[in-house]
Amino acid sequence: MEKFVKEVLISEEEIREKTKELGQQISKDYEGKDILLLCILKGGIMFMTELSKHIDVPVEFDFMVVSSYGNELKSSGEVKIIKDLDQSIKDKHVLIVEDIIDTGLTLNYLCDYLKGRGPASIKICTLLDKPEGRENPIEVDYIGYSIPNKFVVGYGLDFEEYYRNVPYIFVPNPEEDPRKRGSK
Ligand code: IMP
Ligand code: MG
Repeated sequence: MEKFVKEVLISEEEIREKTKELGQQISKDYEGKDILLLCILKGGIMFMTELSKHIDVPVEFDFMVVSSYGNELKSSGEVKIIKDLDQSIKDKHVLIVEDIIDTGLTLNYLCDYLKGRGPASIKICTLLDKPEGRENPIEVDYIGYSIPNKFVVGYGLDFEEYYRNVPYIFVPNPEEDPRKRGSK
């Protein structure tokens, strides 16, 4: 893994602190309300798990799987819902939890889709934001870190579906992908 990790962008410790801060802010903002935390799988899984531990108003979980087509390093421009919500969100306070916002296509589409179902409110919380990549306007309520327009991996974010388990955020060196070497 050493050569594959070109640069550690955000350490495990930094993520932990930021997640706690965000959780505390969310707890304040939603005081007296319940929250439906909506995790966008698969990338949002690590962040939502950690974030939810720091929220002290009543929380429910739900999950959606949304995909832009293909498996390339850049989002491809189309959104497909692979797994929808399990429940009605009517009159609920929905907080979408995402790993990263790049072009904004995914969340722009998703917010419109969810608004049609009559929630009391919809807000967005993302661990990472790449403001330079934005092509679709969206309002993001909670942002962990704004990062440069680089492809990053770890803490839920994948490189060809692998390495979501890595506990920090890093810039990969694709030529040094351990999967491409002979078995050890
Ligand atoms: P958007 O629709 O362009 O905003 O892209 C959002 C989705 O693209 C995220 O949920 C990720 O799945 C994926 N994505 C965007 N940038 C990265 C990255 O740097 N690493 C891994 N996945 C990314
Ligand atoms: Mg992805």
